[in-house]
Amino acid sequence: MSKEWLKHAVIYQIYPQSFFDTNGDGIGDINGISEKLDYIRELGCDLLWINPCFDSPFHDAGYDVRDYKKVAPRYGTNDDLRRLFREAHGRGIRVLLDLVPGHTSEEHPWFIASSKAEHNEYSNRYIWTDSCFRGAEGMPFIGGERERNGCYILNFFKCQPALNYGFQNPKENWQLPPTHPDCVATLEAMKDVMRFWLSMGCDGFRVDMAASLIKLDDENRTGIKALWKNVRSMLDREFPDAVLISEWSDPPKAIDAGFDIDFYLHSAGNGCSALLRDYQCHGNGKPGGEDHSYFKKGGKGDVTPFLEEFCPWYEKTKGRGYISFQTGTHDTERARWSLTEDELKIAYAVLFTLPGIPSVYYGDEIGMRYLEVPTKEGGYNRTGSRTPMQWKKAPNLGFSEGTKESLYLPVDSADDAPTAEEQMRDPDSLWNTVKRLLALRRAEDDLSADAPFEVLFARKGSPLFVYRRGSLTIAVNPSAEPVSEKVCGAEKIVYAMGNASVKQGTIELGPQSFLIAR
Ligand code: GLC
Ligand code: CA
Repeated sequence: MSKEWLKHAVIYQIYPQSFFDTNGDGIGDINGISEKLDYIRELGCDLLWINPCFDSPFHDAGYDVRDYKKVAPRYGTNDDLRRLFREAHGRGIRVLLDLVPGHTSEEHPWFIASSKAEHNEYSNRYIWTDSCFRGAEGMPFIGGERERNGCYILNFFKCQPALNYGFQNPKENWQLPPTHPDCVATLEAMKDVMRFWLSMGCDGFRVDMAASLIKLDDENRTGIKALWKNVRSMLDREFPDAVLISEWSDPPKAIDAGFDIDFYLHSAGNGCSALLRDYQCHGNGKPGGEDHSYFKKGGKGDVTPFLEEFCPWYEKTKGRGYISFQTGTHDTERARWSLTEDELKIAYAVLFTLPGIPSVYYGDEIGMRYLEVPTKEGGYNRTGSRTPMQWKKAPNLGFSEGTKESLYLPVDSADDAPTAEEQMRDPDSLWNTVKRLLALRRAEDDLSADAPFEVLFARKGSPLFVYRRGSLTIAVNPSAEPVSEKVCGAEKIVYAMGNASVKQGTIELGPQSFLIAR
């Protein structure tokens, strides 16, 4: 791990269609991101991840790429993106694009060629069975749609045929090994896409469904690891500073494979969801049953389910790569769905002081709500987390000068919809809390991504969580009851939220409080 600067990096995730619209067509654009770079810098983030902004029919909001080398006209041009890279670099901000290597749009020219009856260069670019009447066991497939006599495998939605990087343990004659020249060609084509953007000034990629490329892999994921190591060695030779972040959520495997960072996804029942989203839903899908989320003030949870998963991962990856905590993503209901602003303050304080690299999803810094809106571009329940950024009290909350009807998605119509402008003025706001925490993180080497981490107190049934980062002791009590515990010799308060104090190594934490001491 050579990238020193990553130690202090903080990711800001931008959903381009909903961030800022500069030409009044109701859709966010690349120039809109360029215009808001100072805002992002002021908040304290310096590593952008932009969701797919490439030419696409948008059946999965751009995760169905039709042309990997062209910015979607609705977002602008390749030149706009080049300018964004330049403007960002001028402010010490790096920019990651979203690489979708597992599948393309069914409208991609490769797939159109691959669907032809006669054999051609692209016949094996996707995974096809040898008969339209025979599908693929254990994998979703489509038959009877194309001229070619075969079924093709899907990687996600119907619009997303799986690219062919090979099968680690082929069982059928149509399953090629990763070493087959046509599978090698698929990988070379994807490296070519990476080179294209990296040469233009992009700083790396968030990799979509990174573990999905090799089919019938073994338990240790030998095949997929070899594939990414191959990519990594190309990058190390040609673009040594390029960053790779995986959407994998298995850090030991992802870091082994050569990723710098792996996202710890919120998935039902895992350690990460135990922090923010461990709630039962009513039949209508809304939270409302018993809530076990650790950060819920009245929650019945504790931090141990998280630590049981996280600590072994941390031990296996420390010194080699980072785990990233996300405030949210475009795929998850915003945490504000079930947590209040005060609960979020405490949650962010922990997420931003754990080891690894935090990621702020646009709008989470002001506690934007999850909105009940109809599905858009394959979003379904995810759509409510993809609504326009709320900049200020103005038409369309300052997102766009277009008509209300033209907006990509409606803005929050509530009278008290939070906006960036108002929160930036209010010292107690969530926005200013995020800003202070991120500034502290930057100022204290002991809070950097790779500074040592050790759990000092965590117990089933207790809301208290105390951990050490280098010379700092950090303690949190998200619950409504005060707690106190003798932990260590920390005396001097570096940062506190709520009613928190420390005397002769005994930490006293009032309801919903947080403390950093040295
Ligand atoms: C990832 C993306 C998600 C997309 C899917 C298919 O999970 O985050 O938005 O629908 O991959 O590409
Ligand atoms: Ca626009």
